[in-house]
Amino acid sequence: PITPVILSGGSGSRLWPVSRKLRPKQFLPLIAEDRTLFQSTLERLDGLADKQPAVIVCNEEHRFMVAEQLQEIGQANQGILLEPVGRNTAPAVAVAALSLLEKNGSDPVMLVLPADHVIPDVAAFQQAIQQASALAEDGFLVTFGITPISPETGYGYIEQGSAITGFTNAWQVAAFAEKPNLETATAYLCGGKHLWNSGIFMFKASAFLRELETYKPEILEACKKTFKQAQHDLDFIRLDAATFKECPSDSIDYAVMEHTRHAAIVPLNAGWNDVGAWSAVWEVSERDAANNVLRGNVMTHDASNNLVFTEDRLVTLVGVDDLIVIETKDATLVAHKSKAQDVKRIVTALEAEG
Ligand code: GDD
Ligand code: MG
Repeated sequence: PITPVILSGGSGSRLWPVSRKLRPKQFLPLIAEDRTLFQSTLERLDGLADKQPAVIVCNEEHRFMVAEQLQEIGQANQGILLEPVGRNTAPAVAVAALSLLEKNGSDPVMLVLPADHVIPDVAAFQQAIQQASALAEDGFLVTFGITPISPETGYGYIEQGSAITGFTNAWQVAAFAEKPNLETATAYLCGGKHLWNSGIFMFKASAFLRELETYKPEILEACKKTFKQAQHDLDFIRLDAATFKECPSDSIDYAVMEHTRHAAIVPLNAGWNDVGAWSAVWEVSERDAANNVLRGNVMTHDASNNLVFTEDRLVTLVGVDDLIVIETKDATLVAHKSKAQDVKRIVTALEAEG
């Protein structure tokens, strides 16, 4: 049996002004107009053999939105773990593993999924999961590798080692480097031996906790305390705030994946995109004849390769290309598509202003 664990605690600041603290990108219908990224993440697993209801890990502020979005698509769950504060993904995965071990008295394979990815080829994705599940059952910590197309510095890079005998489409991880600098990322890209880490993982709950205990015992300790003192309220499991605040903040990539010697790669060729910025929304969305993605009340003349979202007013573009224009009730963004990553700077500056 495979238990999906959905990580939905991120803030999505590069998708401002649509993505906000109270409604970050995973809870918005950014690509499909009738499904949020969170909902699509769950529905993409429909039909997968041996699938159990999911465990959700999110910030407590988002609990009602999560419950409502689950209900909208008729998906059951095995618990919604509520974090009082964000401590990054290593603690989030750890509390999910602890809850599953306690709940079932068994040791399920966890399929850890970020809630904000787009994966168009569902059949290829599900096939990769099936292949990975055999490895996970065998004790491996499985990563899903994406063929890199640029020296992206926001990703993890996995060096592909030799094939693992007895399994289909499975490779050793020779090394894992999270968020290398540009020089290193460029060398990896040119070397042809590295794949991007998709951020999707598969392992037995016990295998992950064992590795966490080896490399970051202080995180495991804090998570155990937090989980032991959690308050259960229907589907919601409210982690203990005082102990969770004491937990070191770290990602699964730095805390475990860079160190473990039990990692494997299953290559994933399914059109994966992590929708990190508005430029990615343009890339994965359906475009019109002029290569524009237009949503809302928009008119264009002699304009191409633009992304325009409007919530309120009519927005018109004349004679401009490669722009991102996002209009909401209280803020408007105009950015060059090639600078979409830098939207984060505005958010940081706004937060500093209070
Ligand atoms: N519950 C919870 N709590 N979820 C979190 C938290 C948290 O504190 N922090 C992040 N998440 C969720 C995010 O919502 C996202 O879905 C996922 O965990 C990954 O977090 P990111 O913050 O987006 O990670 P990243 O993009 O910097 O890096 C990861 O993903 C890359 C691919 O997109 C790494 O795994 C990289 O190695 C990988 O290449
Ligand atoms: Mg991300």
